[in-house]
Amino acid sequence: MTPQKILFDVDTGIDDSLALLYLLASPEAEILAITCTSGNVPARQVALNNLNWLALCGAPEIEVALGSEVPLLAPLMTTEETHGPQGIGYAELPDSGRSISDRHATQVWIDAVRAHPGEVIGLVTGPLTNLALAVRLEPELPRLLQRLVVMGGAFDYKGNTTPVSEWNIAVDPDAAKLVFDAFSGLPPERAPIIAGLNITERVELHPHHVAELGRVAGSEPEEVIAADDAPGTRSHASNPVVRHLSDAVRFYMEFHLTHDQGHLAHVHDPFAAALAIQPELATYRAATVDVELGGTLSRGQTIADWAGLWGREPNAAVAVDTDPEAFFAHFIERVGGLARRVAESS
Ligand code: RIB
Ligand code: CA
Repeated sequence: MTPQKILFDVDTGIDDSLALLYLLASPEAEILAITCTSGNVPARQVALNNLNWLALCGAPEIEVALGSEVPLLAPLMTTEETHGPQGIGYAELPDSGRSISDRHATQVWIDAVRAHPGEVIGLVTGPLTNLALAVRLEPELPRLLQRLVVMGGAFDYKGNTTPVSEWNIAVDPDAAKLVFDAFSGLPPERAPIIAGLNITERVELHPHHVAELGRVAGSEPEEVIAADDAPGTRSHASNPVVRHLSDAVRFYMEFHLTHDQGHLAHVHDPFAAALAIQPELATYRAATVDVELGGTLSRGQTIADWAGLWGREPNAAVAVDTDPEAFFAHFIERVGGLARRVAESS
């Protein structure tokens, strides 16, 4: 089986971290490069987070490139309250000793699609700034990519950043509109896959999932994240990947709990990553997707025209249904297996 070439654009991020671990754990995926944009935390911290996760997992020296440190037009906003001061919750990863690439993320995108026309899946789990800049420089990019998968938006569903906008789109709505417009006109089977909050908020990581992942990894003792743990509790897992993953998601679960969503974590990004290599994990509905830019209250809202009311061809395959537990069984088996291999090789 030839692995699928993935260009992974991120704002790491606790759930971006889980997406990276999932891709590293998946033989179907070959990460060509990781391109970093500001979002959850500033782009340089995003890049350092990825270098440190890669080193922790004993991964090859995959290129990690710095991209846009600010949105196209909007003022930069970050969300350390959601993802922690460094973007990885309570995790404190060993310094990788690895370096950020000399190439700009936009150039990495353009070089990758030119070198591998029709073979690369672009997976974006952060704001779309880098991709928008790449499309501006290489208008053929949408047709040179095999497919685009985006975690972003909220379709007939509430936002998580404003009442109607989702974080990745809200950070840079101008970039999102440029991308959705540029990816119009592709054949239906190559229309961008969009995983919005309408589906990713059904993908709820619970403490029992983390405990199961620890068991698969052979980690001891049992990994327990309890809502009433004392503040500052950290994992004592014997397995380093389990330990740092648990510290990361503990912060995220506390955030969801204090925002009345329960002691759980919506893991948007690993779900989008799974759709990149196993699209059959969801069902999709064609729509014409566009982004509101001018609304005083609604800027950053993603709108899906399901019925062709705008008279425009569909430009997206919006993920509309999935079996969350089937995803978690797959995710736990993959990432638990990675964690076990990391421990066995150290
Ligand atoms: O709205 C959720 C998305 O915004 C996720 O990708 C999360 O990491 C943040 O980037
Ligand atoms: Ca993200």
